[in-house]
Order: sequence, then structure tokens, then C-alpha cells
Amino acid sequence: MSRKTVIAGNWKMNKLASEVPAFASELKAAITGAYDCDIVICAPYPLIPALNANKDVVGMGVGAEDVSAFEKGAYTGEVSVSQLKELGPQYCIVGHSERRQYHNETDSSVNAKTKALLANGITPIVCVGESLKQRECGLTKDFVNSQVVVAFSGISAEDAKKCIIAYEPIWAIGTGVTATNEQAQEACHDIRAELARIYDQETADSITIQYGGSMNAKNAADLLAQPDIDGGLIGGASLKPVDFATIIMATAK
Ligand code: PGA
Repeated sequence: MSRKTVIAGNWKMNKLASEVPAFASELKAAITGAYDCDIVICAPYPLIPALNANKDVVGMGVGAEDVSAFEKGAYTGEVSVSQLKELGPQYCIVGHSERRQYHNETDSSVNAKTKALLANGITPIVCVGESLKQRECGLTKDFVNSQVVVAFSGISAEDAKKCIIAYEPIWAIGTGVTATNEQAQEACHDIRAELARIYDQETADSITIQYGGSMNAKNAADLLAQPDIDGGLIGGASLKPVDFATIIMATAK
């Protein structure tokens, strides 16, 4: 199987651009062993130039955390994909549950954003995941599959292969409650089965599916050992160079 393992940090509204150079050198110093993944840091727009300027220190990719679904026009505060492209990130998160919850992000805006990113050569990291209530009601598979179906509607298999999916159960994000290895594996497996249904098995097998939600230096190795988990989208632990480095090294084969 040819898919890549991708360990991506999701800094959210936490660090400053001025803190990036120190972070990059501390992360480099903390990576003391082998690893087998692409490293990415996703951060708010103002940090992207500093991350790009320091990306070679670690050999990392740089990602944004959102992009407008609209191309251009009167959308005060929004950032279009062409404006984003000028900043030069290689990745962009779409549909994070915090954006769905606080900024009315919908499955169809996730679809529009994913298409806009693909058209501009930026790798979308498409987030999906259920609430605690949905899990308790046994709706996880149906709900997550429906998010995947709409997010990828009208996207060719060739383009779908360029995307990353992050399975992030909402109840695990920022809570310290991580999905068990079995829960995370099952959900990522179900997503892959849905991708095989939408496209074909070869396409499904080539798409990187990350787990996110309280992944940390202690639990990363076990989560990453699951056959359908191809990396992590990491919030809190990505802010600490030593913890993030430990997660990166947990991908060593
Ligand atoms: P967490 O965040 O690792 O702090 O739970 C993950 C995310 O929001 O992507």
C-alpha cells in the first residue's frame, strides 16, 4: 500500500509568528530518532509566512486552518483560496469540528472549500467526526459516512487521492479523552470502506486517514499501529516540541 503517514499539528489560536523560529529549532533538536511520516504544522494565516521561512529546519509542510468557500468579493474577514495560495501553504484543514460548531461550517461548504483547494494545488485535510450523543445512539458510522459523501461529492477519484481525511470524534478533541485504539481503527476502517463504495478499493487504499482527538506522546504509537490509521491531527500535544517529536518518532517502522 502506497499511502503516506502524515503527522500534522493543529495549533489553533495559540502561538505567535515570533515564536515559530524557536519552536522549529526545539522540534528539530527533539527529533532524536528515525521516523516514517510527513510532518506538517497547520496554523492561523498570520503564522504561515514564519512557518514557511522555518520549514526546512525540520523538513515540514505548512498548512492553514480554513479557507473561504467563495472565490472573491464582499465577505469581510474571509480569506479566498487565491489569497491563501499567495501565502504559500501546502495544506489546509477544512471542516474542523470547531469551525462546524462555532462558524456554521456545513458539509456543503466543506465540499466547496475542498474543491477550491484542489483546484489550487493545496492539499485539503478534511475533518469528519461524530458527537458523543451520536456515538451513544449508535449513529457514528452513518453520520461520519454522510459527512464523507457530501465532502467528496463531485470530486474525481484522482483528486480524492490528493486529499487527507482526519477522523476526529468531537468528544475526544481537547478533552484528554482519546478514542480507544479499537474505536479509532473501526471508524477509520468504515471511512475507507465508504471511500471504496464511492470510488473503488484502490482509491480508498491510497487515501491517508488520520486520527485526531487527544492524541499524545503516550498513546500515539498504539493508535498509529492500527492498520487504517495513517497519521494524526494533533492539537494540544503539537504545541510542545518534545511531545510532538515523540509522536513523529512513533511512526518509525
Ligand atoms: P487535540 O486537538 O489533539 O488537542 O484533541 C485535535 C484537533 O482539534 O485537531
